[in-house]
Amino acid sequence: MKKQVLTGIKPTGRVHLGNYIGAIKPALELAGNELYQPAYFVADYHGLTKIHDKEEMNQLSRGIAATWLALGLDPEKAIFYRQSDVPEIFELSWILACFSPKGLMNRAHAYKSIVEENLHTGREADTGVNMGVFTYPILMAADILLFQTEIVPVGKDQIQHVEIARDIAESFNHTYGETFTLPQYVIEEETAVLPGLDGRKMSKSYNNTIPLFEEPKKLQKLINKIKTDSSPPEAPKDPDDSIIFSLYKEFATELQTEEMRNRFLTGIGWGEAKKELFEVMNVHLEEPRERYNELMASPDKLNEMLLHGAEKARKKTRPFLEEVKMKIGIIHS
Ligand code: ADP
Ligand code: TRP
Repeated sequence: MKKQVLTGIKPTGRVHLGNYIGAIKPALELAGNELYQPAYFVADYHGLTKIHDKEEMNQLSRGIAATWLALGLDPEKAIFYRQSDVPEIFELSWILACFSPKGLMNRAHAYKSIVEENLHTGREADTGVNMGVFTYPILMAADILLFQTEIVPVGKDQIQHVEIARDIAESFNHTYGETFTLPQYVIEEETAVLPGLDGRKMSKSYNNTIPLFEEPKKLQKLINKIKTDSSPPEAPKDPDDSIIFSLYKEFATELQTEEMRNRFLTGIGWGEAKKELFEVMNVHLEEPRERYNELMASPDKLNEMLLHGAEKARKKTRPFLEEVKMKIGIIHS
């Protein structure tokens, strides 16, 4: 039996390098391993907690799907779908909600940080919080548990959500006997947090991202914006303290990385380092960018693939959800 690996990305912004390095690349590596059965999806209903514009939702959602495919996800090998096309997830989400202590949700970091920010600025604790945001971890638990997932590749900020899914699963199993597989997260330790243009974590919330499939000219412009100090070209520079080097090593070969490390230590101008970064990134991203643009230009083809993936997903999720319903006493025969 192959181990089930599952991960989702919510369409709340254009996919950036942080998403790629921290989430997509490691997930694709797992997908290439024969020991695993990957299920990768567009978490569009998670995106709805934030995106309340029809066109934006549609565009971003397609963008996530096209990104996975452009980077080489094989939809024949993986189960590749849109969350909203698999209704069993939402049915299970309600069931799990009835096993999720409210206090557990109060402690979930995304919600907690909104509350803290609100209180800090003198607003009411729950200002701007919709119930989708509050129950976000329950829907995520349903995503994971419905597929009897063993492994969830995510970025560091998602660890707590996977732990919550385990907690909910344990609570259910305790009441009804072994039902849900307890999932484990895997994170890419090395690159857990990729820095953005300003040195903080690259994140759409900080407006410091480099979109993964940015056109070359704009990509170069963004790279030129990376914050550097005023040391002269000949001054030795610490590669491990440089955003440019952190990004460079994600796209360069080992040999190139070693060479660049030496150039930093012996002195390289920031302009030169940025140029080299652009080159190595552009070579790496040229082909997938082209595939991405092609897919974005054929929405019908993309849709068909996703619907086909959802059918595959539902073959697996329907019988398991029935089992769960039998256990809780929702039996209609
Ligand atoms: P953002 O911070 O831009 O809102 P998301 O929260 O949508 O990004 O993250 C999607 C996935 O990408 C998550 O698994 C997250 O951990 C990962 N990720 C996001 N930003 C980074 C980063 N700077 N470095 C590494 N991984 C990241
Ligand atoms: N919450 C994840 C994020 O913000 C996206 C997500 C939704 C997810 N459901 C999931 C990730 C299930 C892994 C497994 O990045």
